[in-house]
Amino acid sequence: MKIGFFDSGLGGLTVLKKCIQNCNLSDDIYYLGDTKNTPYGVKEESFVKQVIEENIKYLIDLGCNPIVIACNTATCLLISQLREKYKDITFIGTEPAVKVAADAHMNKRILVLATSITIKQEKLLSLVDRLDIKENVDLVAADKLVVFAEDINCKDKEKEVEEYIESILNNLDLNKYSHIVLGCTHFPLFTTNFYNVINRLYKDANIKIVDGAEGISKELNRHISSYNTSTKGLIHIVMTSESEAFKARAKEILNMDNLAFDYKLQ
Ligand code: DGL
Repeated sequence: MKIGFFDSGLGGLTVLKKCIQNCNLSDDIYYLGDTKNTPYGVKEESFVKQVIEENIKYLIDLGCNPIVIACNTATCLLISQLREKYKDITFIGTEPAVKVAADAHMNKRILVLATSITIKQEKLLSLVDRLDIKENVDLVAADKLVVFAEDINCKDKEKEVEEYIESILNNLDLNKYSHIVLGCTHFPLFTTNFYNVINRLYKDANIKIVDGAEGISKELNRHISSYNTSTKGLIHIVMTSESEAFKARAKEILNMDNLAFDYKLQ
């Protein structure tokens, strides 16, 4: 059995990491990061859909099943069509953890940060509608965090990252919020920076930051627990362009050295 993971870049590694922690992953993992086309969130939707299709087909041709779409943008753009097209493949998608925040019933506002594409998709808007929390939710784009996350010098840019986060939070009265939902898989790489900014500037605000990785790992567990595998598989990191920076960041994020690197160059 091979398990596929897909994201525009490094963000999905935050999901893979949680799955490694929470699931008994003894199979080969293929993580495809579309290094050539990242970031997706600010690009033409038709172009992004086309490259997602190609990338998912690559994972299917490799024999991956299930496939975790560890990308909110790709999930909201294409998961329905992919499920329709590939009926034998199990697709596990990523959605902003709005329900987790809504279920906490704090009677306060919820801030959802995601990519520009995600915040305007019907999938997210109808989730907010279904939960009947439309009046209490703000959807805000934070695309620049994806660019920061992909930067090899990310660690040296904490000040810039926090200034950017601050510029977003400054437009809101944070005391009115109970949750910030990180609706892009790149954003949990900056959870500490979010808390740094909140603790520095909005000391009295009691805000929880949530993301969808925990839920995805539970969902994946439901699918793999029915298989009886014993050998420990290898984690293959596949890139769509040559990127030493991506390799270094992947090792750093997963905190692992034994990764196999490969390329899908067309
Ligand atoms: N990590 C992705 C997401 O969850 C995509 C970010 C991007 O490429 O803009 O939406």
